[in-house]
Amino acid sequence: MSDAKIVNLVDESNKRSSQLPLVSGTLGPDCIDIATLYKDTGHFTYDPGYGSTASTKSAITYIDGDAGILLYRGYPIEQLAEKSNFLETSYLLLNGELPNKQQFSSFEHDITHHTMMHESLKDFFKGFHHDAHPMAILAASVASLSAFYHDDLNVDDPADRKLAAVRLIAKMPTIAAACFRYSVGWPLRYPRNNLEYVERFLHMMFEVPSEPLELNPVAAKALDLLFILHADHEQNASTSTVRLVGSTGANPYASIAAGITALWGPAHGGANEAVLKQLNEIGSPDNVETAVKRAKDKNDSFRLMGFGHRVYKNFDPRAKIIREMCHKVLNELGVNDPLLDVALKLEEAALKDDYFVERKLYPNVDFYSGLIYKALGIPTEMFTVMFAIARTSGWIAHWIEQHETPGSRIGRPRQIYIGADTRDYPSGKR
Ligand code: SDX
Repeated sequence: MSDAKIVNLVDESNKRSSQLPLVSGTLGPDCIDIATLYKDTGHFTYDPGYGSTASTKSAITYIDGDAGILLYRGYPIEQLAEKSNFLETSYLLLNGELPNKQQFSSFEHDITHHTMMHESLKDFFKGFHHDAHPMAILAASVASLSAFYHDDLNVDDPADRKLAAVRLIAKMPTIAAACFRYSVGWPLRYPRNNLEYVERFLHMMFEVPSEPLELNPVAAKALDLLFILHADHEQNASTSTVRLVGSTGANPYASIAAGITALWGPAHGGANEAVLKQLNEIGSPDNVETAVKRAKDKNDSFRLMGFGHRVYKNFDPRAKIIREMCHKVLNELGVNDPLLDVALKLEEAALKDDYFVERKLYPNVDFYSGLIYKALGIPTEMFTVMFAIARTSGWIAHWIEQHETPGSRIGRPRQIYIGADTRDYPSGKR
């Protein structure tokens, strides 16, 4: 008798049964493999929002939501935050192992020499009004990259996949900075190869012709840390979107552009922008009680943005790190932001309130990040763009993993049909 674990499912409704294998991973709950369920029983499963559904096997990131654990390729996020940098973390997500000195230097060289965007892309920006949301420009610009780079679109070629990954990680900061500069009417800035990844981005964002930019090491370190914390997060909505689009054979730029649009939603990556807007609306610690009351009111669509998570039913480990960093960065930059007091009061009030405690609603990665972006001079509408720059490494790592997995199929969920029953077109209608 094999030691394979089986779930015996007996369907009393039609006296059919199914022997469903349990699949175990390295960590985390076993999963019931239901691939034969429809054939055996004639039934689908139903799980809108996929709260109980694993969509794939992956070796990239592991989350234990109850314990508040996040691992990138087995390394705890706290250790990577303390010891790594964003490019090294990106290499880890892509390749499964930390790079040695030579591997890191070669990866950094590749990224540095792919940072420029095609000059024609500048004309693309001119098609937008200056008040266009930068996420709209970013999504459109990344999707358009497949119109410029025809030489790395063979999704079945590992070398093409690697080149597309390097191009995307390298060009996201350049395109993101261009989105910002276009919105404020500044001339676009070319990437400087003598700067490291984050410093190069800050230079492209804030250097103006009228005076040299003094790069602040505190700002660069803070941003690098935020990029590490946002780099990947298992099968979240935008990563699942990248995988679903990638499963059709779509090119990497189209797949990542789909992830950018999914990230934009306020329930997902758009939450960091929504948090800042909400803290501004609340305005003072004196108004926190009213905000908490509204968040609990089922008749009010108001929710505390930056609170709650589908997986974390404990503190989001990234939120803990960002919270500590927030105090440190604002102090080191000499920024006294009254919204930090509002955020701290809001967190304190919510964590004491039964409504939030019973539902295990804790601050998530988006709750404090915006306060740091604001202190770095990044405008609110650019916050989700920052998230997208970082998450590009995770997205493309998942896109590659899916293409490297033998037997990957197009994603095509089924449904419960609740529409009209079969009926005939009325005679004499026309
Ligand atoms: C990210 O998936 C990921 O990993 C995402 C992410 C990543 O790195 O990729 O971690 C990044 O997207 C973080 C989440 C950012 N979003 C927000 O901060 C928006 C506010 N949060 C909520 O919209 C909500 O908590 C979600 C979307 C994050 C999670 O939604 P779920 O899992 O579907 O939870 P739910 O809506 O079923 O809520 C369960 C209960 C409900 O109350 P009851 O019906 O049980 O009475 O909790 C309540 C909800 O009303 N609730 C909230 C709340 N979040 C959930 N009530 C008030 N304020 C909130 N923020």
